[in-house]
Amino acid sequence: MRRFITRSVALAAVAALSLTACSTRDGAEEPAAEDTGAAAETEVAAGFAADSLIGVALPSKTSENWVLAGDLFTNGLADAGFEADVQYAGASAPVADQQSQIQAMITKGAKVIIIGAADGGQLSTQVEAAREAGAIVIAYDRLILNTEAVDYYVAYDNFNVGELQGQALLDGMAAKGEGPYTIELFSGSSDDANSAVFFDGAMSVLQPAIDAGEVVVGSGQVEIMQTATAGWKAENAQSRMDSLITSTYSGDVELDGVLSPNDTLARAIITSVQGAGKTLPIVTGQDSEVESVKSIMAGEQYSTINKDTRTLVAAAIQMAVDLSKGVEPQVNDTESYDNGVKVVPAYLLPPQIVTKENAATSYENDPTLFPLTQE
Ligand code: BGC
Repeated sequence: MRRFITRSVALAAVAALSLTACSTRDGAEEPAAEDTGAAAETEVAAGFAADSLIGVALPSKTSENWVLAGDLFTNGLADAGFEADVQYAGASAPVADQQSQIQAMITKGAKVIIIGAADGGQLSTQVEAAREAGAIVIAYDRLILNTEAVDYYVAYDNFNVGELQGQALLDGMAAKGEGPYTIELFSGSSDDANSAVFFDGAMSVLQPAIDAGEVVVGSGQVEIMQTATAGWKAENAQSRMDSLITSTYSGDVELDGVLSPNDTLARAIITSVQGAGKTLPIVTGQDSEVESVKSIMAGEQYSTINKDTRTLVAAAIQMAVDLSKGVEPQVNDTESYDNGVKVVPAYLLPPQIVTKENAATSYENDPTLFPLTQE
């Protein structure tokens, strides 16, 4: 049996993160958490031993951030005094892998299970079993959908990621010449709850320009299902870009910009355009992957997003530390992340847009990326 204490959580830390007025993830305007001054009533377990087992279930390694997260969790949880069980889903059957990994963590008696979902809609049985066993579930980076049994969400502000991408696309094209501009839209994998949030954020910036006739989506493919990239796989983005070039951009027809939701897909899109011998459009990205930072410095990819994985993992570990002490973990958003059944209390970190112009400043504390910005 889990014992509960109820505490009030002031949302004061939000101001420091400078969240601006944001939309709910279904599009309606709502005041930002900082404006409400509200306090969240949440239940927190009464703590557990400081050397308890903490499970971390990560998806397959579809981008560099996941690769980094594994080691950071293993070392960070050990440094905090916990026993860590960090697992990745394999590439061929990620959902089934992750489901059984979570089940095994429950059996081993994990007190907290931190989950980067392989498919956010396919984990309700497992997280409900976790809750039943007294474990606390933290959704990491990707929301877990359609279940009550998600206690917290820790992520970069995904909607803001999309807004920054949309704005970078407009800024990059404007710097190159006069409009109207022709663009194409790509979104992430539809089994990742983040994909729609990134896309909605970007469209909140792009749609007004489309409506005003300043921006045209050349193929007319504007629905998220038309733009999705299954499994976040580079080859799927590359082959869609190949098809778009054939159908819409043959000969001298110009393409000014491509909204790409992440770096892996941005490089695939660039490869496709280069292969067709066309002038490179402005291409956005996300994740600050090494190859994309090099590409930005070389003047190819236009932008990426700095979402330092070290900070996000540290925030998730801090939640586990707080929970072990019976302290309510800090959240700063209790409105935005409705998983279909409940609004999951979230701790959101602020993402940063990175172009060639601010790369050195943005990565000044990153020993891997900073040197790439110095030639
Ligand atoms: C993450 C992105 C990442 C993508 C593909 C998303 O859920 O937020 O940072 O690029 O998954 O791995």
